[in-house]
Amino acid sequence: MYVKSLQFKNYRNIADGFIEPCEKINVIYGDNAQGKTNLLESLWLFCGGHSFKGSKESEFIRFGEKQARIKTKFFSRGREQEAELVFGGNKKEVYINGVKKKSAASLIERYNAVIFSPEDLTLVKRGPSARRRFIDSAICREKLGNALIISKYNQTLNQRNALLKDIYRHPELEKTLGIWDDTLCYLGSQIILRRLEYIEKLSEYSGKYHDGISDGKENLDIKYISTSNAVYGENEREIFAKLSEALRQSKRDDIHSGFTTVGPHRDDFDIIINKKKAKVFASQGQQRSAVLSLKLAEAQVLSRLTDENPVILLDDVMSELDRSRQDFLLNKVRDYQVFITCCDFDENLDIQGSKKFLIKEGSVG
Ligand SMILES: Nc1ncnc2c1ncn2[C@@H]1O[C@H](COP(=O)(O)OP(=O)(O)OP(=O)(O)O)[C@@H](O)[C@H]1O
Ligand SMILES: [Mg+2]
Repeated sequence: MYVKSLQFKNYRNIADGFIEPCEKINVIYGDNAQGKTNLLESLWLFCGGHSFKGSKESEFIRFGEKQARIKTKFFSRGREQEAELVFGGNKKEVYINGVKKKSAASLIERYNAVIFSPEDLTLVKRGPSARRRFIDSAICREKLGNALIISKYNQTLNQRNALLKDIYRHPELEKTLGIWDDTLCYLGSQIILRRLEYIEKLSEYSGKYHDGISDGKENLDIKYISTSNAVYGENEREIFAKLSEALRQSKRDDIHSGFTTVGPHRDDFDIIINKKKAKVFASQGQQRSAVLSLKLAEAQVLSRLTDENPVILLDDVMSELDRSRQDFLLNKVRDYQVFITCCDFDENLDIQGSKKFLIKEGSVG
């Protein structure tokens, strides 16, 4: 897919704006605090309506205004489509091809993007929640059904955790725990299965990228770490049984701590370079290369699974990479529509067919 046009009205610091990007590399450049990340964030919002910065919807509205609008025309699934998001106070309206939809989740399976920003470069070293967000975000963009399962799982988990806290004070409630356990295992096993399948593909593709980036010197592997001991190759029924058993065994611990200690919300994945855990042993450069390989693999997995190339959003990431990694990245994203933000326009990016947009005080030209 690719974005044909993007229009803003009172979106963050962009009062009014319209751009028509090219199908290849689009460079958004300008000084600090001019609106480059805001522009990229708007392109990301069409993936399903959540900011990668974790912002609240009211924050999208330009200071002093009541409503923000962003509208895009994009080519996907063999035809031109249109999507509009309208933010007003704490509510959001979503229009797809002129029809009002209940939520921005309806954009999943039509519009897709992958974002890469400097914080991603620390993915290897960060805590497990950052890595879980990474996988879940990817599987949510792949299929609307996956986003719904994850959302229902989280609701069920919150209810089970609330009950666990109550049991501590009212032990007679313990017999009601089973009500949540079945639903939790039903939804949880589907999440684990999808994650295991996703990691399998991610590992294969990122391994190939890493081989290229390290000139064949390093081997990159990704391994899912399940708190219920589920492994790739097992079916949903088998994973359900393992998760049920893990919940049963952790019941006393769960009641004692007041939260559910096993399940996909506690799982993680290991990034392994030359058979050693990257989290513990990898150098800064190795970590950067590993994340770069992961991000490129994320785009490739999405494009294979959805049959559409996602749009690639690179926020300020070029300045964080050395010249050889920059060249590697640019070479590998040649088949995608790319949006790159940077402060100084770098002639390295002056590639034939690329388009440049200067952004100054929220005005894009
Ligand atoms: N709702 C809003 N209304 C008006 N301005 C806003 C709103 N939200 C954010 N801003 C402002 O938009 C400006 C531009 O932010 P943005 O993050 O896009 O800058 P940037 O060009 O990416 O800068 P940098 O190069 O430092 O990353 C910031 O000064 C920010 O305070
Ligand atoms: Mg920025």
